Amino acid sequence: MAFPLPKENTAALVTGSSSGIGADIARELARRGHGVVLVARRADRLTTLAEELAHAHRVRTEVIAADLTDAGARGALPGEIERRGLTVDILVNNAGFTTMGAVYRANRDAELAMVRTNIEAVVDLCTLFVAGMVTRHRGAVLNTASTAAFQPLPGQAVYGASKAFVLSYGRALGAELKGTGVTVTTLCPGPVETGFAETAGMSDEEAQATLPKFMWIPAAQVARAAVEGLAAGRAVVIPGAANRVGAVGAHLVPKAWILPFMARRHPKLAAH
Ligand SMILES: NC(=O)c1ccc[n+]([C@@H]2O[C@H](COP(=O)([O-])OP(=O)(O)OC[C@H]3O[C@@H](n4cnc5c(N)ncnc54)[C@H](OP(=O)(O)O)[C@@H]3O)[C@@H](O)[C@H]2O)c1
Repeated sequence: MAFPLPKENTAALVTGSSSGIGADIARELARRGHGVVLVARRADRLTTLAEELAHAHRVRTEVIAADLTDAGARGALPGEIERRGLTVDILVNNAGFTTMGAVYRANRDAELAMVRTNIEAVVDLCTLFVAGMVTRHRGAVLNTASTAAFQPLPGQAVYGASKAFVLSYGRALGAELKGTGVTVTTLCPGPVETGFAETAGMSDEEAQATLPKFMWIPAAQVARAAVEGLAAGRAVVIPGAANRVGAVGAHLVPKAWILPFMARRHPKLAAH
């Protein structure tokens, strides 16, 4: 199955590209000659990255500041991109965040915003953009899940479930699209040092104390593995051998055994 070649009027739409893994996925795609449409809320950071990529790789870059929890903002994306004369050949649903702590202490607005960003936006953008790819017999979708998709995650219950959704949805969508010229890849990173922990109210030291050092992979390396997997049409990409072993183990081990252990170890549960 041929991975879409970069063309003058095609682009990769990358959500959550204002920092971390998404910014590095945009860098990796631009390095391969793809124009990029950068989407997130922080327009200033998107603009800086757009200038960097246009200068370094001579690709077309576009910035669309949008809050992906907002169905109206998501619905406006296809029209806005079409108005700019571009067709989306590569869709990267990468925006996401986690809350931390027990569900019974959770903030309702934050939990719902997480469901909208991590699940609803993925479903919505696939629904909005995949049909055109099928018509053109050309397209590739990359959705960012997590190794948290392979087992429930006490202390981040909604987050773990949202990533299990992304993995299940991506696998099913990929099977539906077999033979259409459109592929679906689900990226499942282990821990990566980005703005992720800080957004969740956790210091880098706290985050790094929870998981062994050898599981942490730099964002640029995760992005490279993701785009290589996407180009090869792989269904699932788990960067790092330790994370691959951990994901399979966590999936297979009896949940009644592993979940109490995980709940005891989670720093935002252990305190209560
Ligand atoms: N870091 C890890 O350890 C790790 C591990 C496994 C999976 N992941 C997943 O990797 C993806 C990227 O996370 P990261 O680690 O790169 O963290 P990050 O640096 O915090 O990046 C998160 C991105 O999502 C965007 N975003 C969040 N809420 C949004 C909203 N409502 N509308 C639009 N954009 C929104 C942020 O942009 P704005 O704030 O500018 O809107 C930012 O660009 C996430 O899906 C995350 O779940 C991360």
